[in-house]
Amino acid sequence: MIPNKYFIIDFDSTFTKVEAFDVLAEICLSDNPERESIQRQIAEITNQGMDGSLSLRESIEKRIQLLSPHKRHLGHLIEKLKSLVTDSFQRNKDFFNTHKDHVFIVSNGFREFIEPVVTEFGIKKENVLANEFRFDDSGKVIGFDTENPLSANNGKAEQIKKLNLDGDIYVIGDGYTDYEIKHSGLANKFYAFTENIERERVVTKADHIAPSLDEVLYLNKLNTNISYPKNRINMLLLEGVHPVAIELVKAEGFTVESYPAGLDEDELCEKIKNVSVLGIRSKTQVTAKVLANADRLMAIGAFCIGTNQIDLAAATKKGVAVFNAPFSNTRSVVELAIAEMIMLIRNIVDKSNKMHKGQWDKSAKGSFEVRGKKLGIIGYGNIGAQLSVLAENLGMKVLYYDKEEKLALGNAVKCKTLKELLSQSDVVTLHVDGRESNANFIGVHEFALMKKGVIFLNLSRGHIVDVKALRENILNGKVAGCAIDVYPYEPISNDEEFVSELRGLPNTILSPHIGGSTLEAQENIGNFVPGKIMDYINTGSTSNSVNFPNLTLPTLENAHRLIHIHDNVPGILAKINNVLAAHGINIVGQYLKTNEHIGYVITDINKEYDKEVIKGLRSIEHTIKFRVLY
Ligand code: NAI
Repeated sequence: MIPNKYFIIDFDSTFTKVEAFDVLAEICLSDNPERESIQRQIAEITNQGMDGSLSLRESIEKRIQLLSPHKRHLGHLIEKLKSLVTDSFQRNKDFFNTHKDHVFIVSNGFREFIEPVVTEFGIKKENVLANEFRFDDSGKVIGFDTENPLSANNGKAEQIKKLNLDGDIYVIGDGYTDYEIKHSGLANKFYAFTENIERERVVTKADHIAPSLDEVLYLNKLNTNISYPKNRINMLLLEGVHPVAIELVKAEGFTVESYPAGLDEDELCEKIKNVSVLGIRSKTQVTAKVLANADRLMAIGAFCIGTNQIDLAAATKKGVAVFNAPFSNTRSVVELAIAEMIMLIRNIVDKSNKMHKGQWDKSAKGSFEVRGKKLGIIGYGNIGAQLSVLAENLGMKVLYYDKEEKLALGNAVKCKTLKELLSQSDVVTLHVDGRESNANFIGVHEFALMKKGVIFLNLSRGHIVDVKALRENILNGKVAGCAIDVYPYEPISNDEEFVSELRGLPNTILSPHIGGSTLEAQENIGNFVPGKIMDYINTGSTSNSVNFPNLTLPTLENAHRLIHIHDNVPGILAKINNVLAAHGINIVGQYLKTNEHIGYVITDINKEYDKEVIKGLRSIEHTIKFRVLY
């Protein structure tokens, strides 16, 4: 800490997200039938306080009269406020502990509820300056200490004057009374704190707008847990990603811009220039041209499963890590597959179609239970394996075939060859990935190997099945029922007609690539992707990245982390270490992983470093990106 800097911090809507009196009103009035009318009166008093027609003292008096708070209400209030501490204050708990002699809470609120909340952060009791309630013997609030300057207008300035602090005074607050401290000539700087509420009248008076505490600490070189304030990291979220994702990244402190639609290439080329993190779904094309404009871009979050819409090679060369949500809709696909196989084995599609035409065709012919039938799963990955578990629970006998060695779950039986699986299965379901070599993986020859009357499902990728061969086998009765969710060509939008040889075939369910499309899956994706991005930004961890070498890193304590991304050419690690050695820096941990395009080196050091080290590391030939954490 630079010894002569003092931070004066407001409580309501700054240290906590809320106005404590509003929360107190909710608690005190919870059983009061007149609640709404009293709350209206309180709002009116607050307004009068703001426009100056009521003094602060009168406004406190009136509010206490209306609420008649009791000690037991204050207990609830304190618990509630503890859970409502502003996010950036929670993130920077260390700061308060480390600099406890230099932090003061100055508030027109009351010590009884402020002190228990802020002392948990290491702030000293004696550094809390606030009003004090007066209670009667039963614990009811009957008034407050009217001698306390903080119960009067401009009381904050008066209190601070009394502190007689020897040094620079920085005020952080959301209200006009905080600005008044600066106005009285008692503070060097006033930071308008806007994380919880932004008041125009206050913002226009500020020396600096602080969207979070990170910003203040960064400006004063006091940040310990992050190197760069999150509010300076711009995040652009397109295509209406789930609101839960927006909430998560906002709570982390990013500056977020979100749009329900996508952007075309030219629009994105312009917009991306200022963006550090881009969030898209499946429609936005992140081309090499877009990436060429993306000099600040660190990461792309694909809020979906596929990443074909992103030029991954160009992203990698640019040092941009891409994350997606490969497992978030697994369950949705599995449930649909189960439902479809049951519908098909009962011939429901045809029966339902007939009913719509007025035909009552009641018969058990051609209808079976799935219990005891053999289910052949091709591709025993995330989806195939989960389907295996659920199908077994329905009483099916599971066979599976996978190119890779996969552990059999439950009683599932592994087939050594595709032929072995196809020749035995009553239901065949495809869950292989969409790699190019899987094109027409199931064609004339494979259908020939299947049992007559087989039920066939493809919810994986369209090009994997030879559609013509499938059509013929449905028409010749080999395939008794079929469910297809994916097609070699899929309409670009809902306005385009779906053209396929599969239209109009008997006992055939066609769905528009919605196997994974459920609200739960969207929400899972919304929860998953921000976590990956924040891990990457906060720790450098790249686990589950689509294009970066995957490194899961330990949390860092008392060290700095240097993150170096470079072209994968020999000798870079040695060069990094030479720079560090030349500056006498000791390495406490080092992690390196490469893929065919890039090398990713994380170096943890436990010593203060000077700018020359950073310069040296940045200027190593073949460096793509370099950043420092903590
Ligand atoms: P995954 O990558 O976990 O599993 C694929 C498995 O297929 C791997 O175990 C792989 O070794 C195996 N495989 C690949 N080619 C093979 C071959 N020729 N022969 C035998 N095994 C082969 O993938 P996940 O998450 O289980 O997804 C499976 C498929 O489902 C993918 O094609 C994916 O695109 C698709 N999908 C479709 C959705 C929809 O809305 N219909 C939603 C989600 C995924």
